[in-house]
Amino acid sequence: MTPRDFDAVDHYLEDTLLGDDPVLAAALAASDEAGLPAIAVSPLQGRLLELLARATGARRILEVGTLGGYSAICLARGLAEGGRVVTAELEPHHAAVARANLERAGLAERVEVRVGPAAETLSTLAREGADPFDLVFIDADKTGYAQYFELALDLVRVGSLIVADNVVRDGEVADAASTNEAVRGVRRFLERVAREPRVEATAIQTVGVKGYDGFAVVSVVA
Ligand code: SAH
Ligand code: DHB
Ligand code: MG
Repeated sequence: MTPRDFDAVDHYLEDTLLGDDPVLAAALAASDEAGLPAIAVSPLQGRLLELLARATGARRILEVGTLGGYSAICLARGLAEGGRVVTAELEPHHAAVARANLERAGLAERVEVRVGPAAETLSTLAREGADPFDLVFIDADKTGYAQYFELALDLVRVGSLIVADNVVRDGEVADAASTNEAVRGVRRFLERVAREPRVEATAIQTVGVKGYDGFAVVSVVA
């Protein structure tokens, strides 16, 4: 298998299982137009986020790393009736593009974009005594993952699910000697998760239009 095959299979699966999605296509086009990097989750991954939200019956979802709101749209589609997504984004420009995309998707009322460093946003949510989140999606700067996980632990309940994107990084995650800051950040995150008695976790390697990467899935059990 080559990366080219991986793309072809993703496109086949997209065509077969997802079909046209003008809302997500418009969000991507607007993000591209606004100069945002093309690093949103793939269409198939986005559908997985939607299904995880629906399968967990999520009413409250926390996202770390909004970009143009692509994954936030997917998560919001899976929300239970009356539910809400809070999504944290550092860059005001990204947040503005996301808000416009969410508005166009008809989801502006269900998604709150909070601008600022995610560590501050998550600390503020804890201070505000926010109701626990049922699902957390971590997808911002990889150097912050361990801290976001730790802060998220104060914002969840037993039974919540925490999902993290990009935990394989072309396989470099297995290289203990890597000097890549993103890889080191992901390793710190995984090691922190492994030491945490309140959770049980796995990670699944993925291929496709986003290359070779993976998701961590963490269940809060205590
Ligand atoms: N979840 C998005 C992609 C997120 S890309 C999707 O799939 O559609 C990562 C995002 O994290 C970028 O928009 C980047 O600006 C943001 N980011 C980087 N550092 C951050 C920080 N410290 N706090 C909050 N967001 C951050
Ligand atoms: C990058 C970030 C992501 O969240 C992703 O899914 C892919 C790439 C990046 O920063 O390069
Ligand atoms: Mg990502």
